[in-house]
Amino acid sequence: MNSRALRLKEVSVKYLTTSVEKTVWLGQQFGIQLIDGDIVALVGDLGGGKTWFTKGVATGLEIGPDYVVSPTFTLVNEYKGRHQLFHIDLYRLKNKAEIMALDLEDYLSGEGIVVIEWADRWPGELPEETIQIELKMVDEHTRELRFSGSHLRAKEIIGALKERIGSSLTQLS
Ligand SMILES: Nc1ncnc2c1ncn2[C@@H]1O[C@H](COP(=O)(O)OP(=O)(O)OP(=O)(O)O)[C@@H](O)[C@H]1O
Ligand SMILES: [Mg+2]
Repeated sequence: MNSRALRLKEVSVKYLTTSVEKTVWLGQQFGIQLIDGDIVALVGDLGGGKTWFTKGVATGLEIGPDYVVSPTFTLVNEYKGRHQLFHIDLYRLKNKAEIMALDLEDYLSGEGIVVIEWADRWPGELPEETIQIELKMVDEHTRELRFSGSHLRAKEIIGALKERIGSSLTQLS
């Protein structure tokens, strides 16, 4: 096990965003910190803002947000920025066999950053050091985003995220 994967007590933080722009900004503040090997699992409501958040992550990696669209036929989109970004969306997959056939594990090799929408549909286990973000729809314009993880890398990222966000967004925990 490498040091990133050192198991700790769960760390988490929860923010409210009241517009798409704020979700993108939050994604950018998160994305700025990411490096090769980081894995981000997005889960939660349909229309919760996973794709908009990913556009923010891309911005933080110096990738134009307009390039970021949900992967449809390929299920994986690849963008080049400060680091390579693999954007996976498992929503349209019908069954586990179909997912298995895609050899998705290959994307977890540490080359580039991986963001996975509908990560709860991933077959098997994601690596322990994955950073989880749960998005909930609060009302038409408001989303709740909970960042969590139980490993050193998640602790680093969440700690730095709190510093970056400061009081710019409502923090719930
Ligand atoms: N605060 C907000 N943050 C993000 N999106 C918002 C917010 N308020 C309203 N929205 C709207 O919610 C929708 C979010 O869409 P988005 O495609 O990002 O969600 P998603 O979680 O990727 O959906 P899917 O489950 O279909 O992949 C958009 O229509 C957007 O305009
Ligand atoms: Mg989406």
